[in-house]
Amino acid sequence: MSVLIAPSILSADFAALGDAVRQADQAGADWIHVDVMDGRFVPNISIGVPVVASLRPVTTRPLDVHLMIVEPERYLDAFAAAGADTLTVHVEATVHLQRCIARIKDLGLRAGVALNPATPVSALDEIAPELDVVIVMSVNPGFGGQTYLPAATGKLRRVRALLDDRGSRARIEVDGGITAGNVGEAVAAGADVVVAGSSVFGQADVAAAIAALRRAGEQGFATRRQGGA
Ligand code: DX5
Ligand code: ZN
Repeated sequence: MSVLIAPSILSADFAALGDAVRQADQAGADWIHVDVMDGRFVPNISIGVPVVASLRPVTTRPLDVHLMIVEPERYLDAFAAAGADTLTVHVEATVHLQRCIARIKDLGLRAGVALNPATPVSALDEIAPELDVVIVMSVNPGFGGQTYLPAATGKLRRVRALLDDRGSRARIEVDGGITAGNVGEAVAAGADVVVAGSSVFGQADVAAAIAALRRAGEQGFATRRQGGA
């Protein structure tokens, strides 16, 4: 499979989170994206360690945990114990990025870094060889349902080029404002994993929504393979 679809549960009904995850799983979601927000790094508070632990037995899909919290190093062990498969920290949120990444890998998880829209691609320069995932934020983090920032497309291309240059096999995730209408553009530019909240859980038919994203994403992947991005 070329493009992975990672529905973000931020847009699901929190009163029925287990059902939402089961539904996404059965609809073919590849990863389940879990947005953790602390009200400090981003102006919103969402969910944390106990929710990850509760969701772990509900699905066998990887739990892709996106930490939008300051000093993420304080919580890596707890999220690992709760059952996260991928832990992604923001480069803007820690002064000890390499230590964070090394710790996540020591814990046996996939390690990722996320870049805010205004953070330059060069922030990846030194750490690229150690990464499994890079999240390119295509909105300012904090809320679901925002509009895709068009500048993200060029940035995805530059991240892809940097990773290729470093011989890194890290997957690129695009996160924010993804719809069936723009996912092809993001994948053509370099995204391998597509995060989508409102375009999945905001829709009446979750399975149809995932299928539509996958179809358009695969078209973008074909464009990329043809060198047309
Ligand atoms: C934004 C989060 C995203 C968000 C995406 O801060 O990191 O994962 O849930 O939601 P949509 O797809 O609605 O933009
Ligand atoms: Zn996210």
